[in-house]
Parts: sequence; structure tokens; C-alpha cells
Amino acid sequence: MISVGHTNNRLVFFILMWYNDKIDKRKTRELVKMTGNMNDKKRFNCCGLICPICGQELAQSGGSLVCRSHHTYDIARQGYVNLLPVQQKHSLTPGDTPEMLAARRAFLNEGHYSPICRDVMAALEANGEISSLMDVGCGEGYYTAEFLRRFPNARIIGADISKAAVRMAASRTREISWITATASHLPAADCSMDAITAMFSLVCEEEFARILRPGAVVVEVTAGTNHLIELKRVIYDDVFEQHKRPKAPQGFLKETGCQLKSFRMTLDNAQLRSLLMMTPHTLRVRPENRAKLEATESLDLTVEYFVRVLKK
Ligand SMILES: C[S@@+](CC[C@H](N)C(=O)[O-])C[C@H]1O[C@@H](n2cnc3c(N)ncnc32)[C@H](O)[C@@H]1O
Ligand SMILES: [Zn+2]
Repeated sequence: MISVGHTNNRLVFFILMWYNDKIDKRKTRELVKMTGNMNDKKRFNCCGLICPICGQELAQSGGSLVCRSHHTYDIARQGYVNLLPVQQKHSLTPGDTPEMLAARRAFLNEGHYSPICRDVMAALEANGEISSLMDVGCGEGYYTAEFLRRFPNARIIGADISKAAVRMAASRTREISWITATASHLPAADCSMDAITAMFSLVCEEEFARILRPGAVVVEVTAGTNHLIELKRVIYDDVFEQHKRPKAPQGFLKETGCQLKSFRMTLDNAQLRSLLMMTPHTLRVRPENRAKLEATESLDLTVEYFVRVLKK
């Protein structure tokens, strides 16, 4: 006969087993959730990217991109990959300073340069369907993210030589493959891109031609002669008129269009400070002239730029 005490012990034992099982399942669920999130964060589209050292295709393995020769590039916690080998770096911290980047983000996020963005997208669309695009010298990623908005099904890569810039850009979206790389050695396969954009940044014609498929284009934006001329008149004692025009291509790409565009914008004091801070003028301006700008309540400015299309 089973005693009452014995029955109670068995009951307690089964309750404990059931409870342990529940706790284990919960722990497992939490673990799976955590790993899932981690994998999500570490997911990186490396399609078309090649090893900057040996040129072989990159594939994701765990939290890294790896080539067949085992050159390994970690996917940073923030979601970008450093594909700039030390031998391709020209300085220890190339590119804009963190203060310049923060100012650029604040200024661009307010949409002051959205007409430029629209012109570039129109130039891209005029060349046919965009299924892959690399924004070279992407900075903190304003334009790159706008391109994704316009071409949501395209494979988009944002590349910049500055790690600080790419790290900041990666906070915009993980739908873009953000990489640190130099325009002169792009870690992309030959003939793999439909388009390259170079927004106020460097064009390396031969290298761009290598990664573009035949018929693909570079859309380049450069400052015109009167770009921000009113700002220059405040911050410099003498403003020399330099007639700007993009240099003729060297023969790897053909210029198929070059338009000079302009619009006006009125900026308040805080916006003027951001604008100065995001340009190289901030490194050159004399303290008394900076003070002059900082005392300016608002200013009407000319934005003038070339949108040039170079075709392979
Ligand atoms: C004037 S900023 C323009 C940034 C961004 N396109 C924009 O308009 O907001 C020029 C950018 O080019 C990057 N850059 C300079 N030299 C480069 C190179 N050799 N390869 C790739 N990026 C470069 C800088 O780090 C900087 O972010
Ligand atoms: Zn390699």
C-alpha cells in the first residue's frame, strides 16, 4: 500500500520536474531569441564584394567576411565592415573629424540639399534600371540612405575611407552594406555595379570603370563656382573667383552629360554653424572671421553644383 506521505513526495517531485522543465524551456527560448538577434545584427550582404588583399570573393562566416585565402574581416557591432587594409590608408584617421560628421548629419537631415539628391536620382533613373549602386565617399550616409529609399530593391553599398563616417552611416540602416574602403582600390568584383555615385567626393576613373558593367554610369556631383559664395564672403577676407568645371575624363569613361544646377536657401544661425563645421572651410577660417559668422543671424546662400554623368 502506498502511504499518504509517499504520495505527497511523488507529487512534489513531479511538480518540481514540471517547473524545471518550464524554466529550461524559457531559458532556451531566451537563448534562441538572443542568438537570433545576434545573427540578425551580424547579417551582412557581401554579394559582389571581394577581398581587398587578394581580390577573391568574400563570403560571410559567422560574424566575419572571409575569402578563400582566409583573409578575415569582422562585421563591426555597428554593422559595417572595414575593408581598408593598412597599406591603403593614407593617414591614421583619414577623412572628416567626428565634429564635422555630426554637423554634416544635422545639416543634411534637415533636407537643405534634397534638390541635389533628387537631381542625382533623376540622372540615375535616366540610365535605366538600377539594381546595384555604390556610393563612394558616402560620408555619414545621407545620400546613400535616400538612394535606398528611391531604389528599395537595389543592392546598395556605401563606401568611405573614414571609419568614423562609415560607423555613423551604419546607424542609418542595415539594409545598406557599409564598408570602409578607398576609392582607388574598391573591394568590388569587375563589372559588378550598375551605377556609382560620387557626391562631393573623389572619382577614380580607372577603378570606377573596372567595377562598372558596360553601359553603367557614374553620377558625380561637384561644387560650382558660386557654391556657397555668400558664406565665403563672410569667412574670408578675399574671395577669388575660381572658375570651376569638372576635369575632362581620362578615357576610361565617357562624359554623356554635365549640367550646372543651382538653388537658393536661407539658413539661420545654428544652420550656418553646422554648414561651416561640415566643410573643410572650418579648418581654414581665421578666428575673427568665425566669430563674424557666429554673429550672423541668417544668410541667403547660393547652392551651385555640377551633376555630371560618366558612362562606361
Ligand atoms: C565632402 S565629403 C562628402 C560626403 C558625402 N558624400 C556627402 O556629400 O555628405 C567627402 C567624403 O569623401 C571621403 N573620402 C575622401 N577620400 C576618399 C577616398 N580616397 N576614398 C573614399 N572616400 C574618400 C571622406 O572621408 C568624406 O566622407
Ligand atoms: Zn583574400
